[in-house]
Amino acid sequence: MKRASCWVTGAAGFIGSHLVDRLLARGHRVVGVDNLVLGRRSNLMQAMQNPHFSFGALDVNDYEASLRFLREQTTAAPIQTVWHLAANSDIQAGGRDPDVDLRLTFLTTYQVLRLMQTLGIPHLVFASTSAIYGAHDVALKEDTGPLFPVSNYGAMKLASEAIISAALERFLQRAWICRFPNVVGSRATHGAIYDFLQKLRANPAELEVLGDGTQEKPYLHVSELLDAMLFLFDHSQDRLNFYNIAPEAGATTVRAIAEAVVRAAAPGARIRYTGGPRGWIGDVPRFRYCTEKLKNLGWSPQLSSDEAVERAIRENLQPVSR
Ligand SMILES: NC(=O)c1ccc[n+]([C@@H]2O[C@H](COP(=O)([O-])OP(=O)(O)OC[C@H]3O[C@@H](n4cnc5c(N)ncnc54)[C@H](O)[C@@H]3O)[C@@H](O)[C@H]2O)c1
Repeated sequence: MKRASCWVTGAAGFIGSHLVDRLLARGHRVVGVDNLVLGRRSNLMQAMQNPHFSFGALDVNDYEASLRFLREQTTAAPIQTVWHLAANSDIQAGGRDPDVDLRLTFLTTYQVLRLMQTLGIPHLVFASTSAIYGAHDVALKEDTGPLFPVSNYGAMKLASEAIISAALERFLQRAWICRFPNVVGSRATHGAIYDFLQKLRANPAELEVLGDGTQEKPYLHVSELLDAMLFLFDHSQDRLNFYNIAPEAGATTVRAIAEAVVRAAAPGARIRYTGGPRGWIGDVPRFRYCTEKLKNLGWSPQLSSDEAVERAIRENLQPVSR
């Protein structure tokens, strides 16, 4: 069987490593790249056993090194699709220093597109985010606007979407822009569940929570995110395909996550809220997604936002000793 080759950027990260496993299970040859700034080799333990996987510890922004590596790895079967997930996922770090999202969130997209043009790769799947919308009072639809992000991260993801659109006019044949909500599950490298567990490991008596706990967002389990992305890739065949991906049933408050993490990891720990309606500068404290477009195409998740959170807490749990 001739295997289709694909390239995953951010392959050692939380979502990227799960995606690598799924693409290998589908019978693809997968080339993964990650600079290991946030990702971990251990996330790729399973994939490393597979002869159809190869990994480069590379910075995507190093155009020459990436080109060399990709050429070496794909002599037998040229790459058909890039799954571009490399980015800064620490939104707070990007708030403190705008350079972080310029380099990791925008320039990675710019360089990936340059590499795709040089290598003649026709298809791009891009990990975008609800943060491109900014703050709105309505459930976010794919055509909600105007688009004024409130974080550097959201701004650089929006700029990435824009440059992908322009590339479609020049050389790219097809693109899928997937706007993720908050994604949870095993191998997490960041996010509320991860942060709370880390804090409780350091101090099992008290959990500090940024904001007043009323922030409320939709959470999707990583397994369902990947189901949706693969479904979109298989079933949405426009030149530019752009979709929100989210659970159907509501959203979960930060307070509910904090209480569930404490119940599971350090029963009896005190929860201390730092106060104020948002966690940090650039945070959109509450949003809802309208997922009608994806549902009309034929895909819906099974888990509610609360169920995804509960499952992810179990998956990320290691005993917190007092
Ligand atoms: N997790 C979420 O809730 C969420 C929500 C919306 C969008 N996203 C997007 O999904 C994608 C994956 O996020 P994640 O949660 O798995 O985060 P992650 O930090 O675990 O994964 C991103 C990976 O990219 C790598 N990386 C960063 N800059 C790089 C560079 N210049 N060259 C090579 N590798 C580089 C990091 O080392 C990391 O492993 C990101 O694009 C993120 O913006 C995630």
